[in-house]
Amino acid sequence: MVADSIKFSAPGKVILFGEHSVVYGHPAIAAAIGLRALCEVTRSNEETITISAPMLFSDQTFTISEKSIVPTELESFKHILLLLSRSHENGFIPKVELSSSIPPSAGLGSSAATAVSLTASLLEFYGHDHDLETINDIAFESEKITHGSPSGIDNSISTYGGGIIYEKGVITPLTSKIPSSTLVIIDSGIPRQTKKLIEKVQKKKDVEPKNVQTIFNKIEDITLDAKKYLESGNIRQVGNLMNENHELLEKLDVGIPFISNIVDFIDKTDALGRKLTGAGGGGSVIALYDDYEYAKDVVSDFVINGFDAYLTNIFETGVKIEE
Ligand code: PMV
Repeated sequence: MVADSIKFSAPGKVILFGEHSVVYGHPAIAAAIGLRALCEVTRSNEETITISAPMLFSDQTFTISEKSIVPTELESFKHILLLLSRSHENGFIPKVELSSSIPPSAGLGSSAATAVSLTASLLEFYGHDHDLETINDIAFESEKITHGSPSGIDNSISTYGGGIIYEKGVITPLTSKIPSSTLVIIDSGIPRQTKKLIEKVQKKKDVEPKNVQTIFNKIEDITLDAKKYLESGNIRQVGNLMNENHELLEKLDVGIPFISNIVDFIDKTDALGRKLTGAGGGGSVIALYDDYEYAKDVVSDFVINGFDAYLTNIFETGVKIEE
């Protein structure tokens, strides 16, 4: 028996340490955030599967079949829909409605969170097992369509939640003693494609293999130190290491002047540390504070100046069913 309406949500993420080098097998630390993607699946009266995603395409509904053509942003979700509808026999047709409070193309894992919530909802809709490993594996395949050769960190953190250290596909939970409400996220508003940034670093690595390997090794040392300081609750050291990680990302050429301007502004505040998060080339900057009220004022200043900025909890719950 299939419920009339099934809803699952999944969190976005920030990469605290180790983006890019993680693609080459080095460790990275990610944390789930308080912004979430939501998927609602209902039984349709139509004969074909439909999907709407108002946060990407307001007012438009797309039909999904092997032959249907959908916008690039929905390709990976079409893949999940076809994959899961192929292996079911109950004859029910899903109507899928996606929504999200995670800004797209901002380095906050919006595509992965949507893929995770969609996968979980459809598995439930078709009466399949929806253990976390299955959800994560399917969402990872979908992420490959969106991002080329992603490490898998985005789908993993969105599925499992909390904090993780991720290395060569192995996920180890990380227990942080850092207070959870002190992270400010500033979305530069400059969209970028993770895939292109990964390719850019790959090209740099082809041209300057030794230099790039040295940068990756330094990022690895920082990430492993950060793990220790997160576990012991030494927020000041975590902040210092964020600054160091940011400089190394700039050396990988994934910084841009506008991100540097945001960083310069943050440096005039009492931030403990700041860095770009995710692929770079635009996207978001994160900043760590030890005073909640002060961090709230920093967010207000950014918002007054026309930015989307968030004060969010980190180490949030992974994919979950919604009432
Ligand atoms: O910008 P995002 O959230 O897509 O993060 C990408 C992180 C990379 O390390 C650059 C790629 C990856 O798959 O890990």
